[in-house]
Amino acid sequence: MNRFLFFIPEQASSVAAQVDLFFYFMVAVSGFFSLLIAGLIVFFAFRYHETRVEAGRPAIDDREHATTHGHGQGAVMLEIVWTVIPFALAMVMFAWGTSLYFTLVRPPAGALQLYAVGKQWMWKFQHPEGVREINELHVPLGQDIRLTMSSEDVIHSFFVPAFRVKQDVVPGRYTQTWFHPTRTGTFHLFCAEYCGTQHSGMIGSVTVMEPRDYEAWLATGGGAAVPGQSLAQLGERLFNERACSTCHLPNGQGRGPSLVGVLGSTVKLEGGGTVKADESYVRESILNPMAKIVAGYVPQMPTFQGQLSEEQLLELIAYVRTLGAKDGGAAPPTVAAAKE
Ligand code: CUA
Repeated sequence: MNRFLFFIPEQASSVAAQVDLFFYFMVAVSGFFSLLIAGLIVFFAFRYHETRVEAGRPAIDDREHATTHGHGQGAVMLEIVWTVIPFALAMVMFAWGTSLYFTLVRPPAGALQLYAVGKQWMWKFQHPEGVREINELHVPLGQDIRLTMSSEDVIHSFFVPAFRVKQDVVPGRYTQTWFHPTRTGTFHLFCAEYCGTQHSGMIGSVTVMEPRDYEAWLATGGGAAVPGQSLAQLGERLFNERACSTCHLPNGQGRGPSLVGVLGSTVKLEGGGTVKADESYVRESILNPMAKIVAGYVPQMPTFQGQLSEEQLLELIAYVRTLGAKDGGAAPPTVAAAKE
């Protein structure tokens, strides 16, 4: 990381080379046309300079009409060429860029699910096994990592140049991103959205470890204290403490809908309409239960607005995820499973 690199950081994720190739393509196309146009301006300035016209060449007006406003076949051909070529190039950029974009915003099924919370001015990370980190994130090599992120205050942006990953982290909702590290090492993490006076200090690092080392690191609680409870276990405890469990019975006979298999499913709402039950939906249903009423149920759930921290919301969601999820995110393992 100490070399000066021509605006390209090292490639450390599966999409990095693809993003760079696309970037180079656009730089090449832009560079080619910039040089072509600048070159022609200079060329024409000399070619059609007044002094050359005075020397017995045809008048400028005549030439202009002959070459650019004529009705000859050559002129039509010229118009077609300079319309079709830029159109084709723009379409290539569009199709290529769109396909890359979809790759970047769609986490693969079975990705390792981690959580991030942005806060003025730090990054807080949670591993499903319960390990928490601040401004540092440890991940295993060669696995798809999916990050579900939220903010406690203002908009931040999770940016790891070496992974070519940048995603806004927004208060009041969840955003997600994913990456597949392809080499071990420590990589810069930045906040890429101005978020207050110490925005520039909201930095950290992502450390990619061999899977074996990562397991060992996790088992010792991130090299710190004794391993605590997993995120889902904490969520389950919260689920019982806050008496969510008295209404959301798993058999669907409770006063609230069953949460088994709800993540990623399509939920029918009272009064018609459906909603895709993603993490933002679960979060909204906890904080603002009246926003979307599941068909067949009475709106009677109290709000938990102001009573749960972002971390606790993530714990609850991690627990709901263990009840079954259809959105491709893997259920977090228990501490016992991670130790094996
Ligand atoms: Cu957080 Cu800038």
